[in-house]
Amino acid sequence: MFGGERIGNGLRTWKPLSEMRPVILDCDPGHDDALAILLAAPHLRLLGITTVAGNQSIEKVTANALKVVELAGLARIPVAQGMARPLVRQPVHAGEIHGDSGLDGPDLPAPSTPLHPRHAVDFIIDTVMSTDGVTLIPTAPLTNVAAALRREPRLAKRIPEISLMGGSMTCGNSTPAAEFNIYCDPEAAHVVFTSGIPIKMCGLNLTRQANATEVEVERIRRLGNRTGRAVAEMLDFYRGRLRQMFGLAGGPLHDPCAVAALIDPSLIEFRPMHVAVELTGTHTCGMTVCDSRHLARGQVEGGGGVRRGETPNAEVGVRLDVEQFFNLLIETLGRYP
Ligand code: BDR
Ligand code: CA
Repeated sequence: MFGGERIGNGLRTWKPLSEMRPVILDCDPGHDDALAILLAAPHLRLLGITTVAGNQSIEKVTANALKVVELAGLARIPVAQGMARPLVRQPVHAGEIHGDSGLDGPDLPAPSTPLHPRHAVDFIIDTVMSTDGVTLIPTAPLTNVAAALRREPRLAKRIPEISLMGGSMTCGNSTPAAEFNIYCDPEAAHVVFTSGIPIKMCGLNLTRQANATEVEVERIRRLGNRTGRAVAEMLDFYRGRLRQMFGLAGGPLHDPCAVAALIDPSLIEFRPMHVAVELTGTHTCGMTVCDSRHLARGQVEGGGGVRRGETPNAEVGVRLDVEQFFNLLIETLGRYP
C-alpha cells in the first residue's frame, strides 16, 4: 500500500495516479469535510476540490479548504469556489456545530496557494467534459452539482457515478425528517436524484455508525504527525459541540463515508431503492423518502391500496464496517506530514 506517486510533502498515493479513479470532491469544510479531503487524496485521483456554501458562508468554507490542503501538503490540488447560496431558498449554515469559522478548533496554517481562477460550476463542467470517467463526491448541499447539470446537460452521460453524503433512511438532523445537506437545498437535491446518474447515498442512518469516540480520537492524536494532531483538535471541538447540543458521546464522521465507499466497496453495504426528495412538506421538506419496502417483503407489490414502487435511482448505504472504516481512515492520516 502507498507505493504510488508523490502528491505532496512526503505523501504518496497508494498506486500510480493513472490507475486511480478520477474524482472531484464538492464540499463545505466543515470538520467531517476536512476528513473527507484527507481520506480521498492518497486513494483517489483527486482532480479538484470545489466548495459550496453550507456549513458556513462560501468565503469561510473556501478558506477552510485551502487551509486543509496547506496543512496536509496537498496544495497542488486545485480548490475552486462555488455557489454562495442555494438555488431557490435562503442560505442556512451550521455554525452551532462547526463554529464561527466553519472549522473551529485547531490553529491551521495560512494558505500559500491561491484559489483556482474558475468558478466551481465551470471547473466541474470543464473537468468532466475533458476527462473520461470523473466521479463526483458531494459532501455538502448539492447546489454546485445541480447548477452544473442544468448548465451542461451532457454531464449526466459523462459522470459514471455520484457518491454523496446526504439524506437519511431514518430520521434527520436539521429537522426530524431532513438531513442538513438536503435540507439546505432540496431543489438541487431533486435535480441530482432525478438526473439518471448512478448514485451512492451515504445518509445519516449509515454515517452515524462512523461514530468517533474518545478511543478513535486518541488513536489519531497518537499518530504524532502535524496532520493527526490538527485532526484530533478538530474532533475535540466537533465532539464538544455535539455533546453540548445533543448530549452525544461521539462525533459521527459523515462525509468520509462517501469517500470510503469508493476506496473500498467492502466497507459499506448498499441496497437499491428509489429516493425522492420532499420539496413541499410542512414538516418534511428536505426529507429523502427512501422506498425500502422491498427490503422487508422481497419486492414492492401493487394493488390493495399499495402504490407500486418506482425503479430504484440510488444505492442507499445501510451498514458500515466500522472497525475497517476507522482502520482505513487512521492509517491514511498517519501517512501525512
Ligand atoms: C452533513 O452536514 C454537515 O454539517 C456535515 O459536514 C455533513 O456533510 C451531515 O448532516
Ligand atoms: Ca459537509
